[in-house]
Amino acid sequence: MKKAQCIVDKDYIIAEVDPKLYGSFIEHLGRAVYTGIYEPEHATADEQGFRQDVMDLVRDLSVPIIRYPGGNFVSGYNWTDGIGPVADRPRRLDYAWLSVESNKIGIDEFIDWCKKVGTQPMAAVNLGTGSPQDAGYMMEYCNYPAGTYWSDLRIKNGHEAPHDIRVWCLGNEMDGPWQTCGLSAEDYGKKAREAAKIMKWIDPSIELVVCGSSSPWMVTYPEWDRVVLEQTYEHVDYISLHRYYENEGSVENFLASFADMNDFIKTVAATADYVKAKVRSKKTMKLSFDEWNVWYIKKQIRVPWAEAPAILEDQYSLLDALVFGGMLCTLLNNCDRVRMACLAQLVNVIAPIFTEKDGRVLKQAIYYPFQQVSLYGRGTALKTLTKSASFATTLYGDVPSVQTSATYNAEDGTITVFALNCDMTDDVEFSIDLRSFGSVKMTEHIIMDGPDLFAQNTFDMPDAVIPKTVAIVDGDRDFKISLPKLSWNMLRFVLTPSL
Ligand code: AHR
Repeated sequence: MKKAQCIVDKDYIIAEVDPKLYGSFIEHLGRAVYTGIYEPEHATADEQGFRQDVMDLVRDLSVPIIRYPGGNFVSGYNWTDGIGPVADRPRRLDYAWLSVESNKIGIDEFIDWCKKVGTQPMAAVNLGTGSPQDAGYMMEYCNYPAGTYWSDLRIKNGHEAPHDIRVWCLGNEMDGPWQTCGLSAEDYGKKAREAAKIMKWIDPSIELVVCGSSSPWMVTYPEWDRVVLEQTYEHVDYISLHRYYENEGSVENFLASFADMNDFIKTVAATADYVKAKVRSKKTMKLSFDEWNVWYIKKQIRVPWAEAPAILEDQYSLLDALVFGGMLCTLLNNCDRVRMACLAQLVNVIAPIFTEKDGRVLKQAIYYPFQQVSLYGRGTALKTLTKSASFATTLYGDVPSVQTSATYNAEDGTITVFALNCDMTDDVEFSIDLRSFGSVKMTEHIIMDGPDLFAQNTFDMPDAVIPKTVAIVDGDRDFKISLPKLSWNMLRFVLTPSL
């Protein structure tokens, strides 16, 4: 059997995991909102029309922050269309997705939904067709207590207490030619800086995310990031990263997405650090990886000018879930810099949760690794020193066959190791050395694998791709665990009192 060795030492600390690493994203796009989270005619709808079957699955993922309302949508969105009596709200054309937006859901309803599912919002302001002044008005409406035009309007609309939104995005992917009113780095940097000033004057306690490159394949990357940060460095708290991967024919390249994601993070961090030195700042810029996932972007269809069309409804396979797990490891391994991340997206649109209009709800294959890492990848992230064979890729060179990450939760004395085995032909004997922890017992080994890499969960076969718990082979210090070929694994340990 092939072998891999992994050392996890409690002193090899990366950082405390910020729970915001497990954020997600709901955009006014396709059926994410309408017939996704909101469907008043649905059998499970609550008094506000929110689907409770969907809320239950969102709660089970323990998502601490959710980005809203876009995405590309936000760059042509007038947030005031979504407030006040629903009957008076305009139907508008959404230029980003060529859809019709009914505006039945707006910021007030989204905040109510967030409270119900136990999360906090991450609001985006429109810096495409919108102005810094509009951003300030939205800020005043949401966070200013009372006694001004916009704050009193919020109260009149039924929300006495401020929404108190902690994190805000300064637009979305403003480098993209597809963006409604995209800008050059220089122009966006200035606009974002002026919006940031107004927003922080109104509420100095907020955190702001400035748009970095929308992908490393942009020709302006990473120069865009440098220019934008030079304009905004002292006014913002995070720079954003977005990255999606798809299987373009080579399973090896696709599996190695985690390595490419790692390089992307390191480059943006280096660019931010260069600007830090250049502007003589004492602050280290945090990274917000606020869009990441597998997305079959080339296979997308468009349904022009429909209301809540079924678009971007990717169905995820076991292979997608494996790649997705590797990406989660990369986020955890960089959580000293990536302090926040959003799985894009949450419901129906490239999402772990999939609904039928007027019907059932389904957990897609990617639901499970996300849930495992969101629930157990908390506490202190530890550097895993893993030695394994490597595999060849045409895009990223040789990449280690076993990708790992680990966390230690001092509160309950548990250690969790995540491991993706990319070996296509062989199981791997994986030795874990937990040398510094003293006496430790293994409590759980959960695997996602299977004979069909392309199996997917469907309403007829909802359990085609689910994790399985395997029997634990007990050991003391030197755990030898079999990682099946092409598998995602969660290994859990607990500290035991020494004799
Ligand atoms: O998540 C789907 C889209 O991907 C978002 O609207 C946009 O920001 C990105 O290009």
